[in-house]
Amino acid sequence: MRIGLLTGGGDCPGLNAAIRAVVKQGLGEYGHTIIGFRNGWKGVVDGDVMPMSRENIRNVLPQGGTMLGTARYHPHSADGGMDAVMATLEAERIEALICIGGDGTLNAASKVADEGIKIVAIPKTIDNDVEGTDLSIGFHTAVNIATEAIDRIHTTAESHNRVMVVEVMGRHAGWIAVNAGIAGGAEIVLAPEEPFDMDRITKFLKHRHRAHANFSIVVVAEGALPREGSSMQYEAQVGKFGEIIAGAIGERVANEIATRTGFDTRLTILGHVQRGGTPTPTDRILGSRFGVAAVDAVSHGETNVMTALRNDEVVLVPLEEIAGKVKHVPSDLLRVARVLA
Ligand code: F6P
Repeated sequence: MRIGLLTGGGDCPGLNAAIRAVVKQGLGEYGHTIIGFRNGWKGVVDGDVMPMSRENIRNVLPQGGTMLGTARYHPHSADGGMDAVMATLEAERIEALICIGGDGTLNAASKVADEGIKIVAIPKTIDNDVEGTDLSIGFHTAVNIATEAIDRIHTTAESHNRVMVVEVMGRHAGWIAVNAGIAGGAEIVLAPEEPFDMDRITKFLKHRHRAHANFSIVVVAEGALPREGSSMQYEAQVGKFGEIIAGAIGERVANEIATRTGFDTRLTILGHVQRGGTPTPTDRILGSRFGVAAVDAVSHGETNVMTALRNDEVVLVPLEEIAGKVKHVPSDLLRVARVLA
């Protein structure tokens, strides 16, 4: 078979593990031909191909980023985009396409599947908000990075008697904020799932600093918002593709805390540090498992599905069940973050 392969949307650690597994399993076990497309759906539209071989995947396993390149590009929203996708797939005689991506890429994948192309998707996003899978590639590494950063911020917060606001990624869901917040012992975690009340935060911080501490760590997901009708008015600051403008909510929260409490307050925006660098073993293993499962699925005619991790088992879920949905942090996990504050 001739199988196309792409990575789309924001990059993350662990993508190369998945690419490598697709190539090794495709070439080795089944004798398929794997055709990579550079820069996500943009590469499919432009016919920008990278034939994949054992040579070009050598040593990529521990590398961050994606050897195929990626882009935020949705062919169904671009003029003539879908026609160009179909033309390239025909010219390259692609019989099935393996798409590694987050919500945007998977949405595009389901649109392409509607046109009759066989698709197998692999979920990746440090935000971990892809529906239908317990874990997405990249999340584990991002939580590690954010936790380490919070640990470091802790010591300087304590030395200087400061409130430290740490903004982490997560525009629709607060998976990184909640997990790194719990692991790093944050006093307050603000996630999109639970709109916050600045009056309560102010009261809590004043009480804590009066009663038993001289510093506090506040972790803010970039998609966190104040409760409607509360004393802080704020609208999400988004870019062209719905990505949140880095630092916007973090800066606002830090300013509100400084003004309302009078405490010395600083902001750290972790930003793309969370997406860069070498993947953890967990992300390498997850990428490898998903890559092998995707090739197996294509080879056995199981298409228009996404590989997913459920109860530590890799399963296939229909694309139509997950496209356009967001997986939110469950209330029991949000509660742990709240209770431990
Ligand atoms: O990968 C998802 C994400 O990390 C979001 O949390 C964030 O809003 C966005 O990427 C940033 O994207 P970009 O790299 O395009 O600025």
